[in-house]
Amino acid sequence: RCVYIPADAAALSVGAGDVARAVEAEVAAGRADVSIVRTGSRGLFWLEPLLEIETPEGRLGFGPVTAEDVTGILAAGADHPLCVGLVEEIPWLKSQQRVTFARCGVIDPLSLSDYEAHGGLKGLRRALDMAPDDIVAAVTASGLRGRGGAGFPTGIKWRTVAGATADRKYVVCNADEGDSGTFADRMLMEGDPFLLIEGMVIAGLAVGATKGFVYVRSEYPHAFRKLRKAIGIAQAAGMLGRNILGSGRRFDLEARLGAGAYICGEETSLLESLEGKRGQVRPKPPLPALHGLFGRPTVVNNVLSLAAVPTILAEGAEYYRDLGVGRSRGTMPIQLAGNVRRGGLIERAFGLTLREIVEDYGGGTRTGRPVRAVQVGGPLGAYWPTSLFDTPFDYEAFASRGGMIGHGGVVVFDDSVDLLRQARFAFAFCAFESCGKCTPCRIGSTRGVETMDRIARGDRVADNLALVRDLCEVLRDGSLCALGGLTHVPVLSALDHFPEDFDRQPAVAA
Ligand code: NAI
Ligand code: SF4
Repeated sequence: RCVYIPADAAALSVGAGDVARAVEAEVAAGRADVSIVRTGSRGLFWLEPLLEIETPEGRLGFGPVTAEDVTGILAAGADHPLCVGLVEEIPWLKSQQRVTFARCGVIDPLSLSDYEAHGGLKGLRRALDMAPDDIVAAVTASGLRGRGGAGFPTGIKWRTVAGATADRKYVVCNADEGDSGTFADRMLMEGDPFLLIEGMVIAGLAVGATKGFVYVRSEYPHAFRKLRKAIGIAQAAGMLGRNILGSGRRFDLEARLGAGAYICGEETSLLESLEGKRGQVRPKPPLPALHGLFGRPTVVNNVLSLAAVPTILAEGAEYYRDLGVGRSRGTMPIQLAGNVRRGGLIERAFGLTLREIVEDYGGGTRTGRPVRAVQVGGPLGAYWPTSLFDTPFDYEAFASRGGMIGHGGVVVFDDSVDLLRQARFAFAFCAFESCGKCTPCRIGSTRGVETMDRIARGDRVADNLALVRDLCEVLRDGSLCALGGLTHVPVLSALDHFPEDFDRQPAVAA
């Protein structure tokens, strides 16, 4: 009988390591006859640490578990008060469409045989039998768009790299997941790293690249270690290297650790950093697709974009394209965080509404107070009131209302939130993370913080609000990259949707 306990960083942060040690102690003392499998997380963070016990009907879940609960759970089984029933039947999970995350939390992330037994390598095997152009055509037909945030069609990016002539080409995975409230890249690298590796090998076959790098943010030590181990295992098993699955084709892969700068998630800074230089934004054009790593044509894709590819090859472009709405095809791993009762990873086809995400999945706020705002799309995303909750999760629907889905992060705030403080934070964040290359971003962000402080003091509020709008325009039009170029989004959305928070009066002297 197997007992499954996540070794995912989020689960470890709430005690999954202690739970695993408690189960080991029970086994060592002869009180339980089970073998322990350390998995990734299923993404039901509100139930972590989630312990699962194998039964003939499926895996029985218990959560949130502490080390002290372990003896009782192993003795009582389904009768234990922490039992949540069969995990696959929990409505929060059952209602999802797990495509990219189908194996996450289910398999042993470092077992290639487990990976293969659950459908892994099927896409790569198919790709090895296809002409590169046909692989690109399948990805294009699937409708997959960049999951890092910008939503650029992946197939078109690949076609650009495939069509370029060069002595070498590269595939670079952007795993510098820096958006607030996001964790899907990390979960995937910790819970199903072979899927990312498989996606990168397929990208290499499609565009004619034989070398890949995964750039992992420094705040993800668990993911980095897991990925490095997985790369070693894949190499030893012939999934990577000079003879991929006996095909005679080649692809080598390395994982590299960043040094903690948000701007290194911007693709050109990331490439600078990978080349060993300071992470500073390069002007575009030239596009990385034509002039990328070490000046060579380079595919730069987010973890989730690359991890969607094996399914597209294995199940066919139509399977993926048939999910979703409008021009947003396939599934989106939405990450629900902030002040919310049931936070975690929700993978669903595009099209579910923000209300379904926050109210049905999230169950409202953790504090029990009314929801007042959500920020979707990271620190550069818009703050939205509940009146926009019927917006479907879809690139175009969000853009038409002044928002963006970005990397799929949804952060919930209750009615105690002060939107002036959040708008100030947007400027402060920009000032802190600016790479310093352009003046509006480097200096304008600091002026933004000062202006917000004057508004907070009730100092010439109308004049200073006009100044903020002016500043936002300069930042939007005069910045080289999205950090400075999108800082107006959180600031102006806070101002436009929550004007009452900016209506400050000067303090009256006693
Ligand atoms: P972008 O619109 O400039 O480019 C998107 C991608 O398409 C890039 O890889 C670009 O090189 C490629 N591209 C554009 N035209 C192309 C063409 N004709 N042929 C081939 N490739 C082409 O957007 P950018 O600046 O790369 O990303 C901005 C987005 O990043 C924001 O919208 C935000 O949502 C997101 N973001 C994500 C973060 C995260 O942690 N995941 C953090 C910060 C921002
Ligand atoms: Fe650097 Fe800011 Fe300019 Fe982007 S907008 S290139 S982060 S200074």
